[in-house]
Amino acid sequence: MSEQTPQLTMDRNLALEVVRVTEMAAIASARLMGFGKKDEADQAAVDAMRKAFDTLNIEGVVVIGEGERDEAPMLYIGEKVGKGTQSAAPVDIALDPLEGTNLCAYGRPGAISVVALANRGNLLNAPDTYMEKLCVGPRARGAIDLSKSATENLENIAKAMGRSVRELTVVILERERHLDLIKEVRVAGARVKLIEDGDVAACVATCFEESGVDVLMGTGGAPEGVISAAAVRCIDGDFQGRLRFRTKEEEARATRMGVKELHKIYKADELARGDVMFAATGVTTGDFLKGVRFFAHGCETHSVIMRSKTGTVRHITATHRFDKKPM
Ligand code: FBP
Repeated sequence: MSEQTPQLTMDRNLALEVVRVTEMAAIASARLMGFGKKDEADQAAVDAMRKAFDTLNIEGVVVIGEGERDEAPMLYIGEKVGKGTQSAAPVDIALDPLEGTNLCAYGRPGAISVVALANRGNLLNAPDTYMEKLCVGPRARGAIDLSKSATENLENIAKAMGRSVRELTVVILERERHLDLIKEVRVAGARVKLIEDGDVAACVATCFEESGVDVLMGTGGAPEGVISAAAVRCIDGDFQGRLRFRTKEEEARATRMGVKELHKIYKADELARGDVMFAATGVTTGDFLKGVRFFAHGCETHSVIMRSKTGTVRHITATHRFDKKPM
């Protein structure tokens, strides 16, 4: 970078701007809550988020998005978003306009809209495969190790948190592939909270004591793993992830996308490096965010914005007036 070139980084104001993007996507999809149409709810979120990005002064590139260019018309991997003026910060973006499409479609708890930003090249380009995940809040930071059994991890987490294993609540996606894991966690003595979808929200919830959940275990989407790692880094929680490929084609795809170590256990700061920003808005009420609430001519949203640089966590409750600003 030449001496004349200003150092363009993600400044503090950007964090406050970014929340507009998740708010717009959350409102658009929440309007379709309970209609049983997950693709439509997702599309509404994508359209709204794409539009909202145009108001941000960033030179953004989507690295985790709705799919590859030939699979997704908008917010595809590689798509450029933001105003991109000369003063714009060059950032990579991981996004999920509607995390928990089924949750929204059936009016179930825990759907969110989410984005994470990092400086260029700092987010792992995770392919659309699975990732085994282990996530905890700040009090258990440093106590997790994906190479150890669930039982050992629970013992170490409990010790770090000054509790017994019986006093831990573990969130696990309710999937057949998790039957053995669920059995092991129950035998270890921890309480289990099974969720139908939405492991990004669950990871973030482990970092908020008032959420009542302490650990996320199990296998979910790899892109969601990178978004979760970014969130957890902002709040000094801990996350580890290991890619779990279903086919050789998925492995080949990961290699094409630049993943060098296919079977490595990634730590949070290897999935999302450097300064990161995270914003999420609740679509339906979950463990740490309230869902969108509509009233005559408007609605209320609840969001959280966090920055790793400062560790500031902001909860923003916003009232949106459709009579003044139609959406
Ligand atoms: P969608 O938002 O695409 O519906 O994904 C929700 C989700 O539950 C994620 O939170 C999770 O990581 C993944 O799906 C799990 O995948 P699968 O449903 O294949 O087990």
